[in-house]
Amino acid sequence: MPVPIPLPDPGRTAPFRVAGRDLLLCNVDGAPYVLDDRCSHARTALAGGRLSGFVLECPLHGGKIDVRDGSPAAPPVRRAVACWPVRRVGERIEIALATAAARDG
Ligand code: FES
Repeated sequence: MPVPIPLPDPGRTAPFRVAGRDLLLCNVDGAPYVLDDRCSHARTALAGGRLSGFVLECPLHGGKIDVRDGSPAAPPVRRAVACWPVRRVGERIEIALATAAARDG
């Protein structure tokens, strides 16, 4: 499904909402990554966190998450954050929401 939001500048993130889900688009050197905009530690939004390479720092407690697969990269984050298949199409993105729906059952 095409998502009509522009890719943020490299090293930046952009929150968006699609199909009732709050997501966060990350630009790592021109490559898009999308994960749930909800930290697995205390369920707060990840938007506003600092992106350094593939690692996103949660703005609340400083836990870190690898945006490539949502895996924990530093405590207090201990559980993965859901990530979604995405590809860049020009200055916009396409996200595989069918995969997301199947994953949610
Ligand atoms: S809410 Fe993200 S590290 Fe605590």
